[in-house]
Amino acid sequence: MKIYIFRFGHRLERDKRITTHCALVSRAFGACKMFYSGQEDPSFENSVKEVQEDWGGNFTIEYIPDWEKFFNINKDKYYIVHLTMYGTAFDDFAKNFNKTFKKGLQKQKKDLLIFVGSQKVPTAVYHFANANVCVTNQPHSEVCALGVLLNALVDYRTVKFSGAKIKVKPNLKGKTIVKN
Ligand SMILES: C[S@@+](CC[C@H](N)C(=O)[O-])C[C@H]1O[C@@H](n2cnc3c(N)ncnc32)[C@H](O)[C@@H]1O
Repeated sequence: MKIYIFRFGHRLERDKRITTHCALVSRAFGACKMFYSGQEDPSFENSVKEVQEDWGGNFTIEYIPDWEKFFNINKDKYYIVHLTMYGTAFDDFAKNFNKTFKKGLQKQKKDLLIFVGSQKVPTAVYHFANANVCVTNQPHSEVCALGVLLNALVDYRTVKFSGAKIKVKPNLKGKTIVKN
């Protein structure tokens, strides 16, 4: 089962770094693709591509000009988890997901899509999402929310980054980069 991310409502000035960080977190935890809506941003796309060229993997980004049309056409292909402080606890969700849902979705050939907002998320999203999930019921950051949820769903040690030009050799102290 693949993991996709949908980043809703990207704003060129305000969200450049945060959207880039959402993409990098998603990639590091093995998501295969980020869709994004809002303002198209080739500079954000290029900065993630540059990381990808050095650090490997097959993570891709696709701009979606009309998010409603995207979900009208595609929503049945995915199990949609919306990250929102109004949702129910992510850890309860993750436990059930890892124990039971995941197998069911694999049988139905559905992939997981994690939806994160930036600007105000329309009410419709809370209804078409299969689950509205919080990482605490306090407002904070989509980067944190994504990282915490993905960490509960994915064993990051198993994620492979094919074609990497550089890798880290883990050290308790100091830094070692290995070039391929
Ligand atoms: C910084 S918030 C801004 C929310 C926006 N002002 C609104 O009213 O929808 C952006 C995104 O971060 C995520 N987020 C923030 N706090 C969260 C929490 N406690 N749990 C889960 N996701 C959260 C949500 O996806 C949210 O749409």
